[in-house]
Amino acid sequence: MVKVTEINHPLIQKKLSLMRDLNTPHHEFRILLSEISSLMVYEITRTFPVVKVKVQTPMEETECEVFDSKVTLVPILRAGTGMLEGILDLIPTAKIGYLGVYRNEETLEPVEYFAKLPKDIGETEVIVIDPMLATGGSADFALKQVKLRGAKNIRFMCLVAAPEGVKNLNEKHPDVPIFTASLDRELNEVGYILPGLGDAGDRIFGTQ
Ligand code: PRP
Ligand code: URA
Repeated sequence: MVKVTEINHPLIQKKLSLMRDLNTPHHEFRILLSEISSLMVYEITRTFPVVKVKVQTPMEETECEVFDSKVTLVPILRAGTGMLEGILDLIPTAKIGYLGVYRNEETLEPVEYFAKLPKDIGETEVIVIDPMLATGGSADFALKQVKLRGAKNIRFMCLVAAPEGVKNLNEKHPDVPIFTASLDRELNEVGYILPGLGDAGDRIFGTQ
C-alpha cells in the first residue's frame, strides 16, 4: 500500500479539473497552479513548529500560538517554480533553493543541471516541490541532494502523483511525507501520468 496524503478538498479538485482540461491555456493553467499551491500549503504546514507569543489587545493581554518555522522551499526546475508564488503568498519569509533536474525522455533517468541551496537548510523545515510525481526519479534525486546538504525535516509536495512514483519514494525515502492534490491511476508506457494533465512544464510555460 502506498503512503501519501491526498488533499482532496473540493475547491482544490475544482481547480485541478480545469488544469486537466487540454483546452485550458497556459496563463490560466499558471494561475490555477498557484492558487492550488496556496491551498495545499495551508494544510501541509498544519504540523509545523509553533511558538507562544503574548499580545496586548485593546482589552487585555493574551497568549497566541503562532506559526514560527524557518522554511526552505526547493522547487525542482522547471515546473516546480510554477508552485512557488502561491506558497510564498502564505510563507513570505521562506528561503528558496533551486534544483535543476530534467527527465531524459528516453531513459526516464533524472539529469541535474543546476543546484543552489541555502547553507542553513538543515535548520529549516524543507518542502521539495514539483507538480508531477511520475516514476519518482526526479523527486528521488532531489531528495538525495537536499539530504546531502543537511536537510532533515523534509516534505514532498506535488499536484498529481502516480502510484508508481509514490511507491518508489516510500521505499527510498520513508522519512519524507508526500502530499498531493490527486493520486492518479497509473503511468503509461512512456512514463506519463494517467489521467494526469500532460507535460506540466510545457503547460506552465507554453512550450508545447
Ligand atoms: C517533469 C516534472 C518532474 C518530472 C517527473 O519534469 O515536472 O520533474 O518530469 O517525472 P519523474 O517522476 O518520472 O522523474 P521534466 O523532466 O519534464 O522537466 P521540466 O520541468 O523542465 O519540464
Ligand atoms: N512529467 C510531466 O510533466 N507529466 C507527466 O505526466 C509525467 C512526467
